[in-house]
Amino acid sequence: MTLPGRPAADSRAETTHLVLPGLTNVHGTIFGGFVMQWIDEIAAVSAVRHVGGSVVTAAVDALHFLAPIQLGALVVMKAQVNAVGRTSMEIGVRVEVEDPRTRARRRTTKAYLTFVAVDEDGRPREMAPLTVATEEERRRQAQADARRRARLAARPGG
Ligand SMILES: CC(C)(COP(=O)(O)OP(=O)(O)OC[C@H]1O[C@@H](n2cnc3c(N)ncnc32)[C@H](O)[C@@H]1OP(=O)(O)O)[C@@H](O)C(=O)NCCC(=O)NCCS
Repeated sequence: MTLPGRPAADSRAETTHLVLPGLTNVHGTIFGGFVMQWIDEIAAVSAVRHVGGSVVTAAVDALHFLAPIQLGALVVMKAQVNAVGRTSMEIGVRVEVEDPRTRARRRTTKAYLTFVAVDEDGRPREMAPLTVATEEERRRQAQADARRRARLAARPGG
């Protein structure tokens, strides 16, 4: 059964977090685990928007923190479905830190996560294909397909 396609743009999600004292480490910068949680959360929002039902995180690609995030900063997170297989999809998440005084933003992390659509018994289920409309979306889809091949080759037991 082939389901009707869903536009990539419909899966977009954006959140902003204020870095309060309870979120920082001894250096006065954010504890990375909170950023990892926010990445998983916003990716789940994007995945649920595409699937219209339950999803689980199957894999998270390597994460690199490129710049520290200071106390009082704003953390802006954006997510979108990049590509879809039969039951799994890749979500791209971009994390920027915004200086509230200057509003200047810089990228601090980029992440790729694989989510799987599941039925009520937790078994993978087919999802709608992705409809891409722009050059940028086509580029993301092609790059995600290449990453998918590498990811599956590295999958434990794969
Ligand atoms: C994710 C899960 C549902 C996959 O179940 P499975 O029986 O291994 O399913 P399959 O081998 O049929 O794979 C289903 C899809 O997921 C993809 N997939 C599964 N494991 C993957 C991995 N580690 N990395 C990338 N893709 C993966 C497969 O490529 C397949 O995609 P496709 O249908 O688009 O081709 C199952 O492993 C699971 O429930 N894991 C725990 C998830 C969880 O609890 N997450 C919370 C955070 S720990």
